[in-house]
Amino acid sequence: MQEDNNTSALEEQLYYIGECKKFLEKKTKEIGRPLYACVHTFGCQMNARDSEKLLGVLKEIGYLETEDEDKSDFVIYNTCTVRENANLKVYGRLGHLKNVKRKNPHMLIAMCGCMMQEPDVVEKIRDSYKFVDIVFGTFNIYAMAKLIYNRITSGSQVIDIWEKTKDIVEELPTERKFPFKSGVNIMYGCNNFCTYCIVPYVRGREISREPKDIIMEIERLVKDGVKEVMLLGQNVDSYGKTLDNPVSFAQLLREIDKIEGLERIRFMTPHPKDIEEETLEVIRDSKKICNHIHFPLQSGSSRLLKLMNRKYTKEHYLEQVEMIRRILPDVSITTDIIVGFPGETEEDFEDTIDVVKKAKFDSAYTFIYSKRTGTPAARMENQVPEDVVKDRFNRLLATVNEVSHEHIRRYEGMDMKVLVEGKDDHEEGFVTGRMTNNILVHFAGDESLIGQIVTVHLDECKGFYYMGRLIED
Ligand code: 5AD
Ligand code: SF4
Repeated sequence: MQEDNNTSALEEQLYYIGECKKFLEKKTKEIGRPLYACVHTFGCQMNARDSEKLLGVLKEIGYLETEDEDKSDFVIYNTCTVRENANLKVYGRLGHLKNVKRKNPHMLIAMCGCMMQEPDVVEKIRDSYKFVDIVFGTFNIYAMAKLIYNRITSGSQVIDIWEKTKDIVEELPTERKFPFKSGVNIMYGCNNFCTYCIVPYVRGREISREPKDIIMEIERLVKDGVKEVMLLGQNVDSYGKTLDNPVSFAQLLREIDKIEGLERIRFMTPHPKDIEEETLEVIRDSKKICNHIHFPLQSGSSRLLKLMNRKYTKEHYLEQVEMIRRILPDVSITTDIIVGFPGETEEDFEDTIDVVKKAKFDSAYTFIYSKRTGTPAARMENQVPEDVVKDRFNRLLATVNEVSHEHIRRYEGMDMKVLVEGKDDHEEGFVTGRMTNNILVHFAGDESLIGQIVTVHLDECKGFYYMGRLIED
C-alpha cells in the first residue's frame, strides 16, 4: 500500500516537473536568457542532502545552478532551527533578498526546512514577508515542483506545511554537491525528545527506510562514481526497529559493506544510550566502514543528563567510550556538547570538563544552549546568565583544544589513506582530503586527484588537521 502511494506521489511530481519545465522554456524565450536557481542550505547534513534533492528538481525543471543569490531567478532557503542564531541568520538574509527581488521581476523566493515547521515562523512570513512566494516544510520537500506550479498558476503566495510524513518519495532527480561522496538517508525523524531539542517537533517521529531501498540507492550511487557514503539518521542505533521485518543497524551495515565498488562507509549519529557491541564488531571487521564515531555527549553531569532526558549517566557514557576503544583501538571519537542548559551549576560544568579529559575526543562541536520555544527545557526555571555561560563556553573550548590537539597528534609520521575532496582554500597547489578517522589533511597535489583515494604521509599535526605529503603507491 505504502509502495503504491509512493509510486503515485512520484508520478504526480514528475508530471509537475514537466509542467514547470514548459513554463520555464516559455519564460526563457520571452526574456531571452536562461534562468538561474540558487539553493542555500543552513544546518546539518540532513539538510545538505535535502538540498541536493531540491537542486536536482530545479535543474530538471530547467534552471541553471548558481551560488550567487543576487543573480538568481529562483532562490530557496533550506532552513535550520536547532539553535536560535540559525533562525536569525535567515531573517537577516531575507531582508537583502527583498531588495534583489525588487530589481528582478522574474524572481521567485522559496523557503523550506525545519524552521518552516514552526507555526509562528510561518505566520511571520505570511504577515511580514509577503514577497516570499513559496513556503513548505520538512515532510513535503519532494513536492516542490507541484508548489512551484501552484505559485506560477495562482500568482499568489503558496504555503503548504504538513504535520507528518505521508509518503517517502526518493526517486526524484538529485544533484550531488560532490561527485565522489553522498549522504544517504536511512531514517527520518527522532523519537528521543531530548528536552532542549526541537528536532522531534520539526522532523516528526522516527521512520526507517527499507534496507532494499537503501541498498538500491547506494548501488546506483556507486555506479555513478560515488566512493563514500554517509548514512544519515538522528539516532542510527535504533534503525529498523519499527520496520515490518525489523532489521538492526549492524545488519544494515553488513549488507551495505557487501556493495561492490563502494569504498567508504560513514554514519551519523549514534546515541550513547543504545550503541551496540555488535555494531562496533561489524565496524572492526569491515575494511570499508570508517574509523570514526561521532558520539554526542551533550553534558558530563548525570544530573543534567537526566534533565536533558538523555537516558545515560556520566559513568555509562564513559563505559561506552571504553567499549568503543576496546573493540576499535584506533578509532577517532568526536562529540557535541551543550553549555548553559537550564540549572547548570559550576559542579555540573566541571563534570563535563572531566569527561572531555577522560574520553579524549579528537574534536568536539561546542554549543551554547539555545532556548527553543515548545521544548520542555524552554519552560525550565534557572536559565543560566549569559556571562556565566560565555565564561564556561570559553573554558570548555580551551580544554577541548588542549585535549584533542594532544590526542590527535598520535597519527603523526603515519601513512594514511585519504579521499581527496577539493582544492585547499588556503594554499595554491595544495589539495585537501579526509582520512577514514574524518581528520583533514592538506598536501601538495593537483586537482586531478580530487575524488581519488591516495596514500599520504602525515608530516605534521596542526591542531585539528595535518600537513602531509603524497606517497606514490
Ligand atoms: N541548544 C544548543 N545546542 C543544541 N543542539 C540541539 N539542540 C540544541 C539547543 N537547543 C545541539 C546538540 C546536538 C547538535 C546537533 O545540536 O548538541 O547534538
Ligand atoms: Fe535532538 Fe536528541 Fe533527537 Fe538528537 S537524539 S535529534 S539531540 S532529540
